[in-house]
Amino acid sequence: MLLNKVAILEVARHADSVDRDASVHWTDVGPGPVEHPLKRDPFNLVYGPAGFSSIGPIGAVSMKTSFRHRLIHWLLQLPTRMSGLEFESYAEVRRAADGLLDRQGRIFDNDVLRHALTMALILDRLPLRQEADPIAVIGDGFGTMTALILETLPSTKIITVNLTKTLLVDLAFLYKAFPDCGYAYVETAADMRTALAEPSVRVVALRADYSEALASVPIILGINILSMMEMMPSVTARYFDVLRRCPRRQTAFYCCNRVEKRLADGTVTRFLEYPWRAADDIVVDGPCPWTRIAYRGWPPFFYRSNPVQHRLAWLEKS
Ligand SMILES: C[S@@+](CC[C@H](N)C(=O)[O-])C[C@H]1O[C@@H](n2cnc3c(N)ncnc32)[C@H](O)[C@@H]1O
Repeated sequence: MLLNKVAILEVARHADSVDRDASVHWTDVGPGPVEHPLKRDPFNLVYGPAGFSSIGPIGAVSMKTSFRHRLIHWLLQLPTRMSGLEFESYAEVRRAADGLLDRQGRIFDNDVLRHALTMALILDRLPLRQEADPIAVIGDGFGTMTALILETLPSTKIITVNLTKTLLVDLAFLYKAFPDCGYAYVETAADMRTALAEPSVRVVALRADYSEALASVPIILGINILSMMEMMPSVTARYFDVLRRCPRRQTAFYCCNRVEKRLADGTVTRFLEYPWRAADDIVVDGPCPWTRIAYRGWPPFFYRSNPVQHRLAWLEKS
């Protein structure tokens, strides 16, 4: 097990390798940079034309934080932000997001709004404040979900699982906001258990190819947002399987993905064909209200996104 800066540097060392579990969506992205832009220095994130900007189809973040930009986002977010009214925890999550985004020099954009609404839903519906067991974030982007959990659940440890290239981006964004929170890098079940037993560690970084290590620890909640829709069905099935097998009496899963998506090699992924079971205890299910409309900075500003379903369920255990 490696800790703190050494842990993050280990992910950087592997950043240019191709993950076995990457679907064609992540391997067929045309010529990329020769070297991962964060490989040499993941601790000094500078975002934008002069620094790191993107590494493929993981979207982008906005670092334009002037009053004018904040106002524009705030106005354009109005329709989606209404969803927050239904969650007691939303105001707290919003405050937490503002604090950590300030440290990252990042604005509260539509992606953060989506994640903040998800966090509020999860806090309202699950007994996470009373539990110490870890949460697994599968396929985060820019560390957004992990950061919101770190800030709103100060005793919770998070396992962040991702393709190596994106995992390094997640860690660079997290390190910028939480330089002292304690990071570990693991590959095996034994190291995973050691990392979670170490009081100083709050974030455990796991490369997707080592996801089997998730099955060794008592995960209370798995989270996957706009990510399984881009995985091979066999990889999605493996994540369901490790969450069902992990040693906890109850494990919840929040899954929010396109109803249907066609990948470049013709593979079609469908939310309802993920390996759900009739005995899963569903808490929330349906079209995800905060992914219906997205916005951009030019008229007509709003556009309809492809249909996305979200489901929060206590999984039947294997
Ligand atoms: C479109 S991005 C979505 C990011 C973020 N969850 C969001 O909602 O904005 C898809 C994410 O899935 C991750 N991903 C793809 N294949 C994966 C795999 N096999 N295991 C874990 N994460 C994976 C990508 O690296 C990326 O972070």
